[in-house]
Amino acid sequence: MIVQVVESASNASESAARLIEAQLRQGVSVLGVATGSTFQPVYERLVSAHRQRPFDTQPLHIVLLDEYVGLSVGHYNRYRSEIIRALAGPLGVPPQRVHAPDVDASDLDQACRQYDELLTGLGGVDLQLLGLGRNGHIGFNEPGADLSARTRLVQLARETRESNKSFFSGSEPPRQAVTQGIATILDAREVLLVATGSEKRSAVQRLLCRHTFDPDLPATALWQHKSGTAIFDRTAAGP
Ligand code: GLP
Repeated sequence: MIVQVVESASNASESAARLIEAQLRQGVSVLGVATGSTFQPVYERLVSAHRQRPFDTQPLHIVLLDEYVGLSVGHYNRYRSEIIRALAGPLGVPPQRVHAPDVDASDLDQACRQYDELLTGLGGVDLQLLGLGRNGHIGFNEPGADLSARTRLVQLARETRESNKSFFSGSEPPRQAVTQGIATILDAREVLLVATGSEKRSAVQRLLCRHTFDPDLPATALWQHKSGTAIFDRTAAGP
């Protein structure tokens, strides 16, 4: 994994958006997306680049990294709804080409297997975008995660629910989610990790020191990826 440290969070968003735009212009057809505060400004920049110099989104499928379990269909905080609002809609990608695990299925294990099959059926993920949890999670692979894990149902760590509370305007975030597993994430042809700000500082600094997989810091799995890029701002990565 190549690490880029840039001056500010805004520079990090700009660099990430440029990298994604370049990939889309080269015809990437399956884009794996993360949600959350880190990627919001990245998607805003990408959408604005598309408005100024449109790129072809006809062949594009957008696949989600993770999705909450327990939110009603159409709930504002569903990650799929967020991606349709912030990215797919403005890029002209229709909802039928925005894929998420079926978190409403009665058999969630089967729905998880079907999601992995869907990714394979699409030809695999070309570029997977990843944010970083304060505890070092990627997707919702919390500390203790297994390197060989595929898409599955997980319990969210207290710390994760605490940091995601701000998106739920007073109500409690769900306790469970379905996430691409670490092995699923590593199958992507390319991965891009972005982390900025002081809240990510501890996780980023631990990540920079540990180049072998440590289950307590799931993002360390990314060192095994042959085509990975990490973009950090100085606040997160600096001394
Ligand atoms: C969240 C989501 C991820 C996200 C990461 C960082 O809990 N599961 O998709 O990328 O953790 O979130 P944020 O960018 O809001 O800090």
